[in-house]
Amino acid sequence: MAAGGSVEIALSVNGVPRRVVVEPRVTLLDALRDRMGLTGTKKGCDRGECGACTVLADGQRIKSCLTLAVMRQGTEVTTVEGLASGDKLHPVQEAFIRHDAFQCGGCTPGQIMSAVACIHEGHTRSEDEVREWMSGNLCRCAAYQGIVAAVLDASEEMRG
Ligand code: FES
Ligand code: FES
Repeated sequence: MAAGGSVEIALSVNGVPRRVVVEPRVTLLDALRDRMGLTGTKKGCDRGECGACTVLADGQRIKSCLTLAVMRQGTEVTTVEGLASGDKLHPVQEAFIRHDAFQCGGCTPGQIMSAVACIHEGHTRSEDEVREWMSGNLCRCAAYQGIVAAVLDASEEMRG
């Protein structure tokens, strides 16, 4: 334990090993945004209701406002900044652009991360299924039609 009750944690973020010193009460969301400068992950409600803070932890989607950074020692975290390969956007990112699946963009990084996981989970066989399995990600702008279309489209592309 470091000075002042803070703890050093080591984890991988977007394939890069990171070490940060955080107080035990700091959420993964705040550690990403405030300690690592990765502000692509958004803070909406900060209490598990909106999904804006969704990231992947060892490939599983989680709401990063609901998990403490200290609980994620050794975890491989992927944020929206880690999806593209150089200049090449991830198929889900491209599909969101193609389908105009956002308005203010506040929910978009969380929607995209959740969509990546949803596709890998195999929960994209129909529009209804996508709506159900993406229901933890809210959009105040109600861009749901575009979001669902983008997820279905990207799913088809990724599954070949
Ligand atoms: Fe985490 Fe809303 S900010 S669920
Ligand atoms: Fe504005 Fe979803 S695009 S909240």
